[in-house]
Amino acid sequence: MSHFQSVARVPGDPILGLMEAFRADPSPAKLDLGVGVYKDAQGRTPIMAAVKLAEQRLLSSETTKGYTSGHGDAEFGELLLRLVLGQDSPLLAGQRGGQRAGTTQTPGGTGALRLTADFLYHCLPGRGIWLSDPTWPIHETIFAEAGLAVHHYPYVGADNRLDVEGMLAALEQVPSGDVVLLHACCHNPTGFDLSRDDWYRVLDVVRRRELLPLIDFAYQGFGDGLEEDAWAVRLFAAELPELLITSSCSKNFGLYRERTGALIVCAADHDKLLDVRSQLASLARNLWSTPPAHGAAVVAAILGDPVLSLQWQTELDAMRERVLRLRHGLVEALQPFGLAERFAHIAVQRGMFSYTGLSPEQVRRLREESSVYMVGSGRANVAGLDEQRLGELAAAIARVC
Ligand SMILES: Cc1ncc(COP(=O)(O)O)c(C=O)c1O
Repeated sequence: MSHFQSVARVPGDPILGLMEAFRADPSPAKLDLGVGVYKDAQGRTPIMAAVKLAEQRLLSSETTKGYTSGHGDAEFGELLLRLVLGQDSPLLAGQRGGQRAGTTQTPGGTGALRLTADFLYHCLPGRGIWLSDPTWPIHETIFAEAGLAVHHYPYVGADNRLDVEGMLAALEQVPSGDVVLLHACCHNPTGFDLSRDDWYRVLDVVRRRELLPLIDFAYQGFGDGLEEDAWAVRLFAAELPELLITSSCSKNFGLYRERTGALIVCAADHDKLLDVRSQLASLARNLWSTPPAHGAAVVAAILGDPVLSLQWQTELDAMRERVLRLRHGLVEALQPFGLAERFAHIAVQRGMFSYTGLSPEQVRRLREESSVYMVGSGRANVAGLDEQRLGELAAAIARVC
């Protein structure tokens, strides 16, 4: 008898399938705008120099490979809290023992979302979660598979425009107590972010309807800057007694494979924070026991050293500026084809991704006729573009428009 007889094959992740198809394509003109990693002008995903320096230091200073605690590296936790909430956040400055926010280190932002899902399911039973339509597909599966009822609010309409009115109207109907997942910046997959006015309006609904916000913060520093991107997170932290934030160091430190992230909890007071954290440590014990140490040690070494920190920020600024240049460059390259206005939103969007507005059929033709690979929804990873080949890409787009 075969124990595995009844195990069926499931389709692979469509984005990873796209990567395989790209690798197998012999065309020298091929362009990969699929998977969401930053690439430099040479098409590489580089290790940041500040990370290399921090690693060299760690190599000589590390003294143990013993387990970290359930909440991970404490120094990383404190430094990340300040990076996300701000150096002078009142949540960190309570009287002795009065801190209202705490970090639980997780394997990447994905781990933070998974821990959040288990926390909601076990500790706040019956709460539904509301995701933007569309959202990062893994949001859908993480919360559904943890046992939560998953619902959606409109975000980008069929006209490929941000639908703030639709979003607010839907949030007005969300049952009190439910959880609303918001992207802090660099919305994945669309690239459309809320304006500050929009955030105030969302805050108003969240407060009136007594919803619990969960802010996914996977791209701090990739939108408009480290501080600017944290603006909405800090607004919510200042205005609301309770907030969940999932933070990822994968993109802004380029630590993708080191699985470095955190769940940050803001509670009404220190005592309640300790209650919540006790639950998180217990849930994490069943998921991964203790988190991986290396990436967090690198982040702590960088953020704890003013010279390394400045170097890291300079490198991060250069990455963000490159992506912004590519956005503007592509729109300019579309100008001779009379398509600059139609695709002007690409320069307005932020982060790695752009909902281009291309249809699945146009995406298929781009792949088959010009070896340009992007996700069927028309999502392009702008950070995967080659500055020298924007004209080629614009011509390929023009052929299918
Ligand atoms: C919106 C969003 N949230 C969370 C993550 C998780 O990132 P990681 O688990 O690689 O840190 C990603 C990564 O692509 C993302 O796009």
